[in-house]
Amino acid sequence: MVDCDSAMLGRRAVLPLATASVLVALMWIRRRRRRVFVLDNIVRRCILNASPYTFPPRFDHSSVSSPVLLDANENSHGAPLDESALSRLGLERYPDPRQIQLKAKLSALRGCEPSQIFLGVGSDEVIDLLIRVVCRPGKDAVLVCSPTYAMYGIFARVNDVQVVDVPLSEGTFQLRVDAILQALTSRVKLIFLCSPGNPTGRLLNREDIKAVAEAATGALVVVDEAYIDFSVPQTGGCEVSCVDLVTSGHFSNVVISQTLSKAWGLAGARLGFAIASSQLVSYVDKLKAPFNVSSLTEHVASQAIDKAASVLQSVTTIVAERKRVAQELRGRAYAHAVFRVFPSDANFVLVLVEGAREICESLANRGVIVRYRGSMTHCRECIRVTIGTASENDRFLESLLDIIGSPTEAM
Ligand SMILES: Cc1ncc(COP(=O)(O)O)c(C=O)c1O
Repeated sequence: MVDCDSAMLGRRAVLPLATASVLVALMWIRRRRRRVFVLDNIVRRCILNASPYTFPPRFDHSSVSSPVLLDANENSHGAPLDESALSRLGLERYPDPRQIQLKAKLSALRGCEPSQIFLGVGSDEVIDLLIRVVCRPGKDAVLVCSPTYAMYGIFARVNDVQVVDVPLSEGTFQLRVDAILQALTSRVKLIFLCSPGNPTGRLLNREDIKAVAEAATGALVVVDEAYIDFSVPQTGGCEVSCVDLVTSGHFSNVVISQTLSKAWGLAGARLGFAIASSQLVSYVDKLKAPFNVSSLTEHVASQAIDKAASVLQSVTTIVAERKRVAQELRGRAYAHAVFRVFPSDANFVLVLVEGAREICESLANRGVIVRYRGSMTHCRECIRVTIGTASENDRFLESLLDIIGSPTEAM
């Protein structure tokens, strides 16, 4: 028989024991839970929330054999390269982190000092570096003028930097200077102006750029001239480029961004560069990865610059083709479906068509890849078509005609 006292004692002892084991189990579960790695717990919120860049549609049509690629504004003629030199590059060694030879060539090409140049892995890296040099995450902002190149906004957001949008004027795609000046707060540290614009194809008025640069005493003004070589091909766009605003020393807040991805036919090599005050270049140098530009890239870029005359020739051909394609599209055969072909200073045309999205799909089904831009500001029902070689452009024109039918059929 168990006496009453010892039974009570036993129960009293069992209860705390049960509570203790529940506590231990809870702690064990909590500790286990803590030990499980949840990536989203440590990734910055601005990265979690960011929408990624939408790749050119060619990557969604990889099953199409020998497609005509008119969706990324490259130079289909390619760059003049001497492949035999690749074996002499010494790829077992790191490249020159100061990129002295390439900067010398670029500075001679663009009429600035080597100390006024910094290089990037495409001008995409130039954009990212500039944001990181001047914008404080969670505090500052960049100003863009839509419709414009998406990467300004994407790099801003992943750096936890806000985006202030002051759209271009509708139809003419020019800066609304007064609206920009009104939007300039002390938080805006960078203003991105794209000239010629993407997807607009239009050069911005130089006087407007100067007015913004003059007023923006608290911000850098980045003039993205990725397509400048197509504006006045004879001179590499010299008359219309804003490089002189930097080299004259009058605008120490202006930065010009250019690239070898477009006219120079080297999109795959990834070389972009900026022309800015030597002081700003010295700050960017602190931030960039020391060997960001590979020997391979340096080599092919340098070769292309040595053969600038040949590049100029392909650019001149593209500009002549731009005129031909625009004229054809404005002709009677297309008039029932092509409502507007915007003037272009770049290697692509923005075209207002009936049923833009369906036309892009139908073209892709025929192996011609162009870019739908209808969801961008002021670009409803627009497609952007890169000017390729004469035969690529013919394929585009013929396929489009095939899709829209002849004017009589449309009636
Ligand atoms: C206006 C503009 N800037 C910059 C870039 C990026 O060029 P890169 O290939 O030099 O990174 C592009 C690419 O399409 C562009 O359209």
